[in-house]
Amino acid sequence: MRVDTALTRLIGMDLPIVQAGMSWVSSNAELPLAVSNAGGLGVIAAGPMRLPDLNECLTQIRTGTDRPWAVNMPLYRKGADEAIVDLIEHAPPVIIASQGGPKKHLGAFHQVGTKWLHVVTSLKHAAKAAESGVDGLVVVGAEAGGHPPEHGVTTLVLTRLIAREFPDVPVVAAGGFADGKGLAAALSLGAAGAQFGTRFIATNEATVHESYQQRVLDAAAEDAVLVGRGLSPIRALRNEFTDTMHNLERQGADEDDRREVFSSTVLRQAAKDGEVGTGKVEAGQSSGLVSAVRPAAEVVRQIAAEYGATVAGLPRLTDGVVRETVGVVASA
Ligand SMILES: Cc1cc2nc3c(=O)[nH]c(=O)nc-3n(C[C@H](O)[C@H](O)[C@H](O)COP(=O)(O)O)c2cc1C
Repeated sequence: MRVDTALTRLIGMDLPIVQAGMSWVSSNAELPLAVSNAGGLGVIAAGPMRLPDLNECLTQIRTGTDRPWAVNMPLYRKGADEAIVDLIEHAPPVIIASQGGPKKHLGAFHQVGTKWLHVVTSLKHAAKAAESGVDGLVVVGAEAGGHPPEHGVTTLVLTRLIAREFPDVPVVAAGGFADGKGLAAALSLGAAGAQFGTRFIATNEATVHESYQQRVLDAAAEDAVLVGRGLSPIRALRNEFTDTMHNLERQGADEDDRREVFSSTVLRQAAKDGEVGTGKVEAGQSSGLVSAVRPAAEVVRQIAAEYGATVAGLPRLTDGVVRETVGVVASA
């Protein structure tokens, strides 16, 4: 199966399906390998990884596939510069950089042949990244799990806005996508691919505690709430932690008190230790669309097949009249 877009041509992959870099969930080789070998783009989340673990993971992925893969690197992270020097030596096919500007390291990655996709959450940031010469943009809207934009602009609007403004830069839409209909929506908006995060939490290869996966499967879309406004907010599944934060926010508690609770727990506690009642269970609104744990390759194939069926089944515009593909057509 192949879907030809500016993104698949840029990176040399079969399908415009990107598995999101997710701390702890894809800080391994298994999940990215399964996705890349199935024709999508597998992404190692390097953010929380120690350098020796990252190096081992890079070696595993190199020996496990000849397809393109990527490393997600939050540029603000402690020790990012050291990790980046190391990464340049490995010359990954793609880097997906978040939370920082591209200028400092872009040239060095380009020299070793790495394509640079930059994560942005506004038109302003997209313009800055595009001017710096990045190869593509990952546009994250409000529905996303992890760190969505605090301004609340949805993926629907943000993707369209940025794709329209930068028609020559491949855009990957992120936040809210869980299936092939989502991919069709992203490409309709002018994106050249879609990034799927929460969908891949519920895969056999995700290195995440089973209680965390179960929470994602059980969650309704509205359970994925935004907490920590003013403190680099996260979208996480509702629990004791998010309720406490929301109470503080409603009461107008001062920043120090809110920050104390916000930083009292981290994603790791939920993702690795299974503390889903009190930890940060980061996940997107698309949790409501995810109902089963599946092998990652099967997820990729299913998204692609559903994309094909969706596009083929869309109502056509004929003689200025929108007609359903099945059923009686009313005369104009
Ligand atoms: C558990 C979790 C961890 C994440 N960790 C990272 C990360 O380390 N770096 C990053 O750039 N984005 C991270 N994200 C955001 C994802 O890369 C992606 O943009 C988001 O999941 C897309 O929204 P979706 O979950 O609705 O598909 C994380 C998201 C989740 C759910």
